Amino acid sequence: MPRTSGSELRKGDLRDRRLLLEKAYALSPSELDGLGTDAEMLERSEVMVEYAVGYFAVPLGIAPGFLIDSVERTIPMATEEPSVIAAATFGASLVARAGGFSTAAADPLMAAHIYLRNVPEGNEARILTEKAAIRAATDRVLGRMKRRGGGLRKVGVLRLAEGGFVRVELEIDVRDAMGANILNSAAESARPILERASGGTTVMAILSNSADRRIARARFAMPTRLLARGRFDGEDVARAIVEAYLIAAEDQERAVTHNKGIMNGVSALALATANDTRGIEAAVHRYATQSGHYSPLSRYELSDGQLAGTIELPMPFGTVGGATLFHPGARTVLKILGNPDGPTLCRIAAALGLAQNLAALAALVSEGIQQGHMRLHARRVAFEAGARGSDIAKVAQKLQEQGDYRETYARAVLEGIRNG
Ligand code: MEV
Repeated sequence: MPRTSGSELRKGDLRDRRLLLEKAYALSPSELDGLGTDAEMLERSEVMVEYAVGYFAVPLGIAPGFLIDSVERTIPMATEEPSVIAAATFGASLVARAGGFSTAAADPLMAAHIYLRNVPEGNEARILTEKAAIRAATDRVLGRMKRRGGGLRKVGVLRLAEGGFVRVELEIDVRDAMGANILNSAAESARPILERASGGTTVMAILSNSADRRIARARFAMPTRLLARGRFDGEDVARAIVEAYLIAAEDQERAVTHNKGIMNGVSALALATANDTRGIEAAVHRYATQSGHYSPLSRYELSDGQLAGTIELPMPFGTVGGATLFHPGARTVLKILGNPDGPTLCRIAAALGLAQNLAALAALVSEGIQQGHMRLHARRVAFEAGARGSDIAKVAQKLQEQGDYRETYARAVLEGIRNG
């Protein structure tokens, strides 16, 4: 297969690179269109990442009906996975009928670390005598954040036990930002001061994605009768949801999937708001292991006919900085969310994660999740078979009724419909 060299692809602009790709990989016009066609978004992609050739579209849906701290919200979600948005909406509707979610978010404190080598024993204390100089240096890069009420809060020093490296921690209030750029700039600005004070040299200066101070919580309590579905009694479903939680608490193999379900919601909101999905996921999974045992991030209790669900997880979401306001889609998404500040978006994300988890567990302990998945799968097969518009639902229904999801069968069904 013809290829084009890396150096060729690094030259020119997005249009040149698309032409090169078109030739090298024999891409048809519609295949090229798959890499994005919107002129404005193509230009933005070019300034967002290096060697851009387009942008990648993922479905965006809305999950209406969230009641979070007495505010009704519609949550946009970007995801490629079927059933996720339906599940979020279902979880939200159950909780809304019981008064909604109550949520909280801690102050948006993040840490940046400067790791030093060859610091003579005892010199750690000298670093702490330089707090004023460190503050002056970091203030210069934290100017705008300081004006918004953020900025450097604490300086800490720790000698790592095994390698003897010294870690200097800058704790910074990042306000409405996720904070990565500002944390990294602050850490780099402190390097020379730390080197002079400690006698060591810098290995690296970088934020910690742990975000373990930036905890968001969400909670609901609902009468178990709300959980009744089909032939399943509400009390039985509630009891089984608690059992599902207990299994996740004991068995890490299950906890991973339990938390993946939570992240189906959280990551879809992170993507829709152009937040750093990897940073959020890294923080969350690290937090899940904080007891030394990978644990579920949500828990459930049953008492007096009420099922209570809670979630607690680090939520380093931002509403300014990074790509959030630069990406036109994310800007619209934030507007649909009511232009929340950073901590509010973190609270919304926590409620969404809990709704997602509640819906998944309610389905798993009753009729299972495949029914919903197969409905969407059938729609996709119908589409692939050529169905469009209202024919998609008609073909999909037939596939489901027959339990036959082959594309050849879908084509035959479609032909039948078209021939009346
Ligand atoms: C599927 O994407 C997510 C679930 O597996 C979550 C769970 O098992 O709790 C349904």
